[in-house]
Amino acid sequence: MTETSSLPFSQACENNREPILTVLQSTFADRRHALEIGSGTGQHSVYFAPRLPHLIWQTSDLAENHAGIAVWHAAHPAPNLRLPLRFDLQSSSWPQTEDGAFDAVFSSNTAHIVAWPLVMRMFAQIGMHLPAGGKLALYGPFNYNGGYTSESNRAFDLWLRERDARSGIRHYEDIVALAEQHGLAPEHDHAMPANNRLLVFVRRGTTPRLRST
Ligand SMILES: C[S@@+](CC[C@H](N)C(=O)[O-])C[C@H]1O[C@@H](n2cnc3c(N)ncnc32)[C@H](O)[C@@H]1O
Repeated sequence: MTETSSLPFSQACENNREPILTVLQSTFADRRHALEIGSGTGQHSVYFAPRLPHLIWQTSDLAENHAGIAVWHAAHPAPNLRLPLRFDLQSSSWPQTEDGAFDAVFSSNTAHIVAWPLVMRMFAQIGMHLPAGGKLALYGPFNYNGGYTSESNRAFDLWLRERDARSGIRHYEDIVALAEQHGLAPEHDHAMPANNRLLVFVRRGTTPRLRST
């Protein structure tokens, strides 16, 4: 993510938005209210919201990114697009809005950025608050069978870990185990360009668990 004046820009978002959208159009077809965790620049939200007009798209991120997201929203307004909520995986409780409960969650390129305990907290929160049948779509690079899927992912992982030892590409098997622990069943694992994946999970059960973290 780079920033020029007040408009942050991610080339990766421009490159991956269409293949992600294609999956979301079917995965979120019967959803009404999506929470995006770690909206970044806001580019995904302004592209997805008008193309998923049947649902409300709620952005969220750390407070430091809100101004940039708001600039993108002002440039590309949509009636179903919501300005960012402060949602910090380290400390925030699950966001509440006047639009009611969330029945879908989307997060892109966050699991390899935040520390593993925060990935754990993200899944715990999602598992606790998504209703049965609720969907989680998680985009990013993942390792399989203990190894990288490409040389570029290997180099990326080394770069991430040098920059922040708590970050790094996560293992698909660890993510699935974590999801299962919180009542989220793996539904699809979509191949995406540039050695990325879009993992889709569905909340099992009939009612969300009523406990808090
Ligand atoms: C690599 S960026 C991805 C942004 C965007 N989703 C994308 O795909 O371009 C990682 C995002 O995670 C967010 N993030 C980092 N730490 C976080 C935390 N503790 N809680 C919530 N979001 C966090 C950052 O602010 C940033 O927006």
